[in-house]
Amino acid sequence: MLVWETIIEASDTTMVTTEWAMYELAKNPKCQDRLYHEIQNVCGAEKIKEEHLPQLPYLNAVFHETIRKYSPAPVIPLRYAHEDTQIGGYYIPAGSEIAVNIYGCNMDKKLWENPEEWKPERFLDGKYDSMDLHKTMAFGAGKRSCAGALQASMIASATIGRVAQEFEWRLKDGEEENVDIVGLTSRKLQPLHVIIKPRNL
Ligand code: HEM
Repeated sequence: MLVWETIIEASDTTMVTTEWAMYELAKNPKCQDRLYHEIQNVCGAEKIKEEHLPQLPYLNAVFHETIRKYSPAPVIPLRYAHEDTQIGGYYIPAGSEIAVNIYGCNMDKKLWENPEEWKPERFLDGKYDSMDLHKTMAFGAGKRSCAGALQASMIASATIGRVAQEFEWRLKDGEEENVDIVGLTSRKLQPLHVIIKPRNL
């Protein structure tokens, strides 16, 4: 479990988030420009650091929209019902194993407008507290929800911000179609192919 939690739950989820965020930013130049200008306004010539994160709401929205659309842990590790219970109106008999579909929750049309669309702006409409780590179901819920949510948010956001600050990202021709996912965490089946151009910092 020690190795599992370090590699799969901590590193892999964070890496997957960063790769999909850069895919979407490279695909959506307007979002990338908005993020770059937000970072420039706050950091100026300084390199982005964790201390800057609370002042970067668009970067926070990019992070949350990426873990909503790509749910790095798409299915919650199995739960065992020790006694008869009810969840969401369903009767669960003792002895059942339950797998909650996080991806399904994050793509639920009743909760999210156009869930297939990657749109960080949806988190900036005043309904969400920017410090709330659970805007989506990506980190699970309840007392066994992700223990590393804050760390994941800080590491992935600082990384996304840093590479967006340093380079302009564009998808390589044909890359837009490469959206297949594989594995226990939502890994990109075909590794990300981009063209990056250094910015004048
Ligand atoms: C974007 C990145 C991450 C996502 C989407 C994510 C998601 C999740 C999910 C869905 C669970 C299961 C929650 C449940 O069973 O209800 C979980 C559990 C856990 N995660 Fe994360 N995680 C991420 C990053 C991290 C990081 C960076 C760490 C460690 C530093 C971490 C440590 C853990 C641990 C220890 C658990 C087990 C908690 C428990 O069973 O009480 N995770 N995570």
